[in-house]
Amino acid sequence: MKIGEHFSDLAPRYKSLRTTDHEPICYIGKILSHINDLKIADIGCGDGRYDELLLKYLDNIKTLYCVDNNADMLKSLNKSFLEKGILKYEIINSSAEKLPFKESCLDVIVSFNAIHHFDLSKFLDSAKNVLKKNGYIFLYSRTKEQNKRNIWGKYFPRFNEKEIRIYSLQDIINCVDGVEGLFIESLKEFKYKRASTLERLVFLAENRHYSTFLLYSPEEFKESLRLFKDNIGEKFKSKVNWYDFNIMAILRKS
Ligand SMILES: C[S@@+](CC[C@H](N)C(=O)[O-])C[C@H]1O[C@@H](n2cnc3c(N)ncnc32)[C@H](O)[C@@H]1O
Repeated sequence: MKIGEHFSDLAPRYKSLRTTDHEPICYIGKILSHINDLKIADIGCGDGRYDELLLKYLDNIKTLYCVDNNADMLKSLNKSFLEKGILKYEIINSSAEKLPFKESCLDVIVSFNAIHHFDLSKFLDSAKNVLKKNGYIFLYSRTKEQNKRNIWGKYFPRFNEKEIRIYSLQDIINCVDGVEGLFIESLKEFKYKRASTLERLVFLAENRHYSTFLLYSPEEFKESLRLFKDNIGEKFKSKVNWYDFNIMAILRKS
């Protein structure tokens, strides 16, 4: 299955398969609290689970542009926002690498859990062009290093070796350094205590909640899932506990 088909398939139930954290949105909200009438774009927005939180926590947003190259994800976003009476948004079907905004028109660009699907250098170049001077880019992702420390990286065979798309922290730094007029203002790590049952974890993997699982052949996946169950069974009793880590890179346009 191609990645686009995968996201189309998951679009109606994506939210139910992922854990949505409020901390990064509160953090962004504090940093942006001094700006009025924000024009902000979320790139690779998916079904809008983080856009809903942005509109909930940031009362200084004028328009939120929800950008994704998958029409089914945008359809899901639109449906849930209409049902909830959310108004201050526009949906835009576009690739991250060629953003369809006028030059220097946005205050802020955010992206959650999506940069590993982009050509990061091209995306940053395009983002810089459409951002106002002193504008912000917030990139929220797990790095290659952090991916190794979560429940899948530790116990699901070949998870780290298969996931070749995720950027290391140094990759992110290098890509930003390669774009003239952008710089990293700060980096913030988020750490989350998680708990689940083995049944729930198996359900998530079988539903390919991380697209990493698409990178396994059906036979490899079956065998790896069997070994994952054994590994978890050996290590934990009824509840499975672990930590998830994410990084937020805060970039500015000079
Ligand atoms: C892992 S999902 C994350 C969605 C959302 N940000 C979230 O955290 O729930 C990645 C999203 O990026 C989108 N995407 C992948 N490649 C893209 C590209 N080159 N341009 C725009 N969107 C892209 C996918 O369609 C998908 O909706």
